[in-house]
Amino acid sequence: MIPDDVVEEVRARADIVGVIGEFVQLKKAGREFRGLSPFKKEKTPSFYVIPAKAFFHDFSSGESGDVFSFLMKHQGMSFVDAVKYVGARSGVDVREVRKGRGGDDPWRPYHEASAQADSFFRERLWEWEGGEAARRYLEGRGIDREAGERFGLGYAPDEWGAFREAAAVHGLDEGILLELGLLKKSEKGGDPYDAFRNRVVFPIESVTGRVLAFGGRLLGREGKGAPKYLNSPESPIFHKGEVLYGLSWARNHIRRDASVMVVEGFMDVVSLAAVGIRNVVAPLGTSLTESHARLLKRYTTQVRLLFDSDPAGLRATFRAADTLLGQGLHASVVTLPDGEDPDSVARSGGADAVRGFVAQAVDVLDRKIAILEERGYFDSIEKTRRALDRLLPTLRAARDARLRDIYVTRVAERTGVRRETLAQELSTAPARAARVGKAPVRRRPAPRFRGLGAERTLLLLLISHREWVEKSAERVGPSDLEDGANRVIFEALIADPDLVALPEGTRPEAVDRFEELNADPETLADPARVFDDTVAKIEGNRISRRLDAIEAEIRGSGTGEQHRLIRDKEELMKEIQALPVDWRRSGKALSNLGRTRQGGRERQ
Ligand code: UTP
Ligand code: MN
Repeated sequence: MIPDDVVEEVRARADIVGVIGEFVQLKKAGREFRGLSPFKKEKTPSFYVIPAKAFFHDFSSGESGDVFSFLMKHQGMSFVDAVKYVGARSGVDVREVRKGRGGDDPWRPYHEASAQADSFFRERLWEWEGGEAARRYLEGRGIDREAGERFGLGYAPDEWGAFREAAAVHGLDEGILLELGLLKKSEKGGDPYDAFRNRVVFPIESVTGRVLAFGGRLLGREGKGAPKYLNSPESPIFHKGEVLYGLSWARNHIRRDASVMVVEGFMDVVSLAAVGIRNVVAPLGTSLTESHARLLKRYTTQVRLLFDSDPAGLRATFRAADTLLGQGLHASVVTLPDGEDPDSVARSGGADAVRGFVAQAVDVLDRKIAILEERGYFDSIEKTRRALDRLLPTLRAARDARLRDIYVTRVAERTGVRRETLAQELSTAPARAARVGKAPVRRRPAPRFRGLGAERTLLLLLISHREWVEKSAERVGPSDLEDGANRVIFEALIADPDLVALPEGTRPEAVDRFEELNADPETLADPARVFDDTVAKIEGNRISRRLDAIEAEIRGSGTGEQHRLIRDKEELMKEIQALPVDWRRSGKALSNLGRTRQGGRERQ
């Protein structure tokens, strides 16, 4: 048999439309999906799947039920097989266990230990004298007892062995507590000690409401090696890439409101709930994963991201948005004033203030365009092309065909690039994308190596100093890199500055190059200087290639066109003037310019 809660977990995570859609052709009709009855021949579709209720109904045969009963009725599967089948498609590890003898769920001791810890922490917060400081802390943050209890908040005392002793009384296995990260082994040997100390504890629940792990907020200020928030480590029952904090409480509200807000932290979720906003979840100190996105998709397709508006927060926002788009969800961005988070807005302005900001949510693509606009990306032709480089990943990510279509139109309008050109760009692999202004390909001995050297050095810098990724993305686009493998790596780093390995299916040269760069022992003494130099060289090379191309075009075009091209050329010359003096003075670089222009002339 399969433990009940595993069945529940599978049911909760199942994408019923996806599963049934493998057997019945379904078409979206409002919030439902409709198709021809798989049970009875018919001409007009009367078979409905209602994702919000995780239910199907067939009006012509009268059959109805959940995803499992569909498979049993339609495929003749047993219940166990149906659960396994759906489990395999929903990322839930379905294990059959033999009934009887000492419990039927292999993870039961882990769940029991977590549940015990949960009640221990709660008791310490509300009933214990020593919980006074924590109660006052929560009160000070606008969390009253009702809100606190709804989220099962607790308090871990400021002691090394309080939980350990209580656990021993309950006969909990120390090995399991260590695995769950509730206890820690001291380095000098000796007894394990409590991992959570002097913290407000937030239980982290599965969709079905079982406690899987904990997050703890230090009372007062961080310091002395004590981080502000401490989360349970990965364990047999806790995989943080698959759990969203708050979802067990929020899921019905998400369905009702037909949208979800994704915030950064525990406190944001609890504090918004305290002012009555309940369709809120938070990833657990990680970026939003595909698994998170699939989980959300069960409840809604409208996601509002409320992350910090500092550069790191924006990066997280755009990365999360691409992940959501990739799963066919729709992402919009809520911008809060500098230095505020949803918790602080809710505290100072209440629900109305939060709703006011949410009402101004902007589609993620529009947000990207607005940011590029603020940074002057559409002021020149060259920059517009780089802006395009930064918009393309979002266009590529959008899996929903209609949304993608709208996106293409928006980008075409803003950049003046034709829709067809964009569509073509999107149909080619990212690695080969955007080589506008192809220079005539000729031998270019020394200078060219200089260029590639700069590309390599820039990548070395970015791999060892990730904080420079965002900055370089503002000045250099992937298509500015001449070498294909470098281009792939650069693009992957922009998409995910914390990248440790290239995505599966990346071309082998790039994978090799990435490994080679990672293994390179060269240390870069002065990152800022290296950044300026390499970026200037790459920019210089790009402009010189573009000039080559324009000269070739000038020769092959009519007078009207020539005027425009000459203006473009003048603009490029200005951009070259703006490059650091170092670059312009470099004899080789200048001779590079000279040579390619001569090369162009020879062709006539
Ligand atoms: P913030 O530092 O923005 O904290 O971290 P916060 O949520 O505003 O917390 P308060 O208001 O000071 O209590 C956002 C999230 O990042 C994770 C936590 O999940 C936190 O909620 N985080 C932060 C950690 O995991 N560890 C840390 O040390 C800090
Ligand atoms: Mn905060």
